[in-house]
Amino acid sequence: MASQSDSFDVAVVGGGAIGLACAWRASQRGARVVVVDAGEPGAWNVAAGMLAPVSEAEFGERALLELGLESARRYAAFCAELEQPGYRDVGTLVVARDRDEAEALERLAAFRTGLGLPVERLRPSQARALEPALAPTVRLALDIPSDHSIDPRRLVAALGRAFGGELRRARAASLSVGRGRVTGVVLEDGAEIAAGAVVVAAGVHVSRLGMPEAARVPVRPVKGQVLRLRDPGGPGLVERTIRGESAYFVPRGDGRYVLGATMEDRGWDTTPTAGGVYELLRDISEVVPGVFELDIEELSAGLRPATPDNVPAIGRGALEGLVWATGHFRNGILLTPVTADLVAAALAGEVLPSWAAPADPLRFAGVPA
Ligand code: GLY
Repeated sequence: MASQSDSFDVAVVGGGAIGLACAWRASQRGARVVVVDAGEPGAWNVAAGMLAPVSEAEFGERALLELGLESARRYAAFCAELEQPGYRDVGTLVVARDRDEAEALERLAAFRTGLGLPVERLRPSQARALEPALAPTVRLALDIPSDHSIDPRRLVAALGRAFGGELRRARAASLSVGRGRVTGVVLEDGAEIAAGAVVVAAGVHVSRLGMPEAARVPVRPVKGQVLRLRDPGGPGLVERTIRGESAYFVPRGDGRYVLGATMEDRGWDTTPTAGGVYELLRDISEVVPGVFELDIEELSAGLRPATPDNVPAIGRGALEGLVWATGHFRNGILLTPVTADLVAAALAGEVLPSWAAPADPLRFAGVPA
C-alpha cells in the first residue's frame, strides 16, 4: 500500500456512477483510492436509470444480455449497502402501437422466452387493467416484472457518500506512463497524481485522455435527449416503466417521470432540439396520452460512450496498471454493480470470470481509435 500523501494505490479517472462504484469497491478491499473528476456531470446525469436487461435485449446482443442479467441480479444487494439510492423494484411494460409493432414485439417475445427470460404476453385489456393510462389503441404488451429502475442522480450521490474517500476536482489530461506501465495521472495544470493503478471510467471523455494509442479503447459519443416531467396532480399516472418502440417513460414513484431518449450520431453536440422533443412526445403520447398533462421540469441531452461492438471495456488494459471501465453505451447505470465488482477483482490481480470475456478491453488493443 502507498505511504506518501500524494501517492495512491488506485486513481480512478471519472467520478460518475461507474467511477465512484469502482472507487468504493476498491476501497472496501483496502486500497487507498483517489477519484479525479472535472465536476461536469456525465451521461449518468441525463440517464433515466432503467435496469432493464430483458426489455433491452435485442437479437444478436447475447454478450451484453449476459452482463446485464448478471448486474441486475446484483442490484438489490448493491443498493442495500447504499443510503437512499432511489431504487424501485417495479417492473416494465413494453407496448406495441400498431400491427407492425405488434409483430415485431411477438418476435422479440419469442426470442426472450427462448432464452428463458421472464416475459408475459398481455392482451390490450390485460395491459390496461395493469396500467389504466395506456391508450385504448395499444395492440399488444409484454409484462417484464424483473426490469426495475433507479434514479441515477440519487445513485451517484449515494455512491459518493459510500466511497467517502479523496476526490480531486480536476481534469485528467493524460496517463503517466513509464517503462511500459501506468504510474499515475497528469492533470490539466501539469500536476501529477502517482498511483499504482489507474481505472479509466471517464465515459466519452476517454477519447480526450492522453495515452499511448495502442492502449486506447475506441469510444464515440451517441447523443440522447431526455425530458424530465412532473405531474402536478402527484403520482399514479403509471406505476411501471412503459417502453414504446423508440421512447421510454420511467416513473420515479413521486409524480416525476423521465421520458427518453433520442439516439443521434452528432459528435460532441449536446444541444436539445425541437425535433428531439417532438419525437419523444409524439411516440410516448400515442401510448400514454396523459403525458400532455405533465409539467416540463428539465430538457437535457447526454452523450453515451459507445464502443464499436456496443459492449463495454471492463478489466485490465494493454499497459501494466491500466484498468478500463468505459464504453457502457446505453447500459451504464444497469452495469454499474457488475463493473465495479469486476474492476475491483482486476485491481486485486484476480482472473475475471468467463462471462466477462466479451468485455475484455484487450480486444481493442492496437485497433486505431
Ligand atoms: N438505456 C437507454 C438509453 O440509453 O437511452
